[in-house]
Parts: sequence; structure tokens; C-alpha cells
Amino acid sequence: MRGKTVLITGATSGIGLEAAVELARRGARIALVGRDPERTEAAEAAVMARSGSREVSHLLCDFSSQTAVRSLAREVLSRFDRLDVLVNNAGGVNKKRRLTVDGIETTFAVNHLGYFLLTNLLLDLLKRSAPARIVTVASIGHRRGTLDFDDLGFERGYAIMKAYTRSKLANVLFANELARRLAGTGVTSNSLHPGSVNTNIWSGAPLWAKPLIQILFRPFFISAQEGGATIVQLAADPALEGVTGKYFEKGVAVEPAPLARDEALARRLWEVSARMVGLPAS
Ligand SMILES: NC(=O)c1ccc[n+]([C@@H]2O[C@H](COP(=O)([O-])OP(=O)(O)OC[C@H]3O[C@@H](n4cnc5c(N)ncnc54)[C@H](OP(=O)(O)O)[C@@H]3O)[C@@H](O)[C@H]2O)c1
Repeated sequence: MRGKTVLITGATSGIGLEAAVELARRGARIALVGRDPERTEAAEAAVMARSGSREVSHLLCDFSSQTAVRSLAREVLSRFDRLDVLVNNAGGVNKKRRLTVDGIETTFAVNHLGYFLLTNLLLDLLKRSAPARIVTVASIGHRRGTLDFDDLGFERGYAIMKAYTRSKLANVLFANELARRLAGTGVTSNSLHPGSVNTNIWSGAPLWAKPLIQILFRPFFISAQEGGATIVQLAADPALEGVTGKYFEKGVAVEPAPLARDEALARRLWEVSARMVGLPAS
């Protein structure tokens, strides 16, 4: 990875932070994205200390704001003359239905539209840097996800896991549609499930559910370092050069859910997402 520039969102904790450490160890120039200045500076210092690399910098963005995503993209374009790997990883769960400053349900806005908008704004830079890779962190939870274009934001009834699994289904559909749109450009697009990982992801769950999650899932949890390994694989494995439009679980490309393989659905989601962020659909 020496000389490669890698941008990782959601790099202040969990699998994003661990992937950043490993990719920095391998010589990549790392740009960490976080939303909180103190946490992001601390992550930058941690990545430098643990990897021994000085090629680490940070940028700030709260993905719940489209204005913030646009200003992040502008800053990336002004700071970097190339981008070899974009890792879309920032995300979480929300116990209550909340709207963003743009009036969109937060889980969908952050976990899906954040990836969608940032990637589209950086596409020209990625194409100029080809061969380049876009790595989208989805989840095995996408298998339980549904899409209802008449009620994308759950106005008719919100549930934390319905919102999360919908956003993760959107991640796989987006990564696959992106791969089709990028055919022949030298830029690949793949998505992944990192495993069930012991991170802060459930900090947005209701208080009563947190001990339950720990009791039920702790025996099956892997470490953040192990979870980050699938990101590192998709970002750096030479064997995956040119591989695109795939979904990975446990480091192996597997078939995603039938809904995630529906090309018409993916096209429609792309068009709807483009409208929601004010980009042209084509
Ligand atoms: N853990 C699992 O078992 C698991 C399983 C499948 C998929 N995933 C996926 O893995 C990805 C990373 O999650 P994780 O498990 O590593 O959890 P995590 O430790 O909570 O990390 C999530 C990261 O996303 C950032 N983030 C959340 N909302 C944001 C926003 N509005 N704007 C900017 N950054 C935001 C967090 O920043 P702060 O530090 O500021 O909160 C943090 O850096 C997520 O996409 C998640 O869906 C995780």
C-alpha cells in the first residue's frame, strides 16, 4: 500500500480505526474522517502511535448533514491529488426516529445517503487515480432489510432494526449499482459484512437493550481488529485487483440477499437517492 492514499470514514472507533492502523502499517497515506474534533484528533494520534507512520491526517464531517458532506468532498479535492481507496464505513443505529437537518430519517441519511453523496462527489478523483477501489461497509443485516419507496423514512412506524437493515440493504444495492456504472473505468466497488464485532455500534440502541445485546451476542463477537481485517482485505489484497460488484462475508465473496441482487431496485434506489441529495440521476 506504499504511496496509496486511503480515505476512511467513521475512523474514530471500531473497525474503521483498526483498518486505518493496519493500512497505515502497510505504508498507505491515511486520511481519517470523524465528526467530533477531539475524538478525531485522538484517533489520528492513535493511528500514528500504533502504526509508526507519520502519513496520517484527519478531516471532519457529520454525515447527517449534506452540506457537511459536500464541504468534506471539497476539502478532499483540494488536499489530495489522488485517491486510491475510499472506505465508506461511518454509520450507526438510532433508537428513535429522528430527522436530519435535511429532513431525512437519520439512519438512512447517514448510513446510505452519506456514502452515496460522498462517493459521487469523489468519483472523478477516483477515476483519475485508477486503478482505485471503493469499499462499502454494509452488514449481514441487509438480508432482513426491506425497501418501501413510499415510506423510506418510516413515517408510518419506526423500528430501530428495520431502519438499520434498510440502510444496510441500500449499501449493498448501491455498491453493486456503482460497480455496474464504473465498468471499464478501473475503479472497483465492493461491499462487505465485517462479522459481529465488539464496537460502539450499539451505543444508539435503547438502554434496556444494551445488556441483552451483550448477553446474547458477546460469545459470538469478534474483536474490532478482526472485523477491520475484511476492510483491509478489500482495500489492499492484490488478489482482488479488478474484482468488482461483489459482497464479502468472512473474507469470501458470497451472494447477498435476493433483494440486494435486484438490478431494477438498485437503479431505482440510485435515482431516488440522487434526487434526495440533489445530484443528477444519470
Ligand atoms: N459492529 C458490528 O457488529 C457491525 C456489523 C455489521 C456492520 N457494521 C458496520 O460497520 C461500520 C462501522 O461500525 P463499528 O461497528 O465500527 O461501530 P463504531 O465503533 O460505533 O464506529 C462507527 C463510526 O461511525 C462514526 N459515525 C457514526 N455516525 C456518524 C455521523 N453522523 N457522522 C460521522 N461519523 C459518524 C462514528 O463516529 P463517532 O466516534 O463520532 O461516534 C464511528 O467513527 C458501520 O457502517 C456498521 O453498520 C458493524
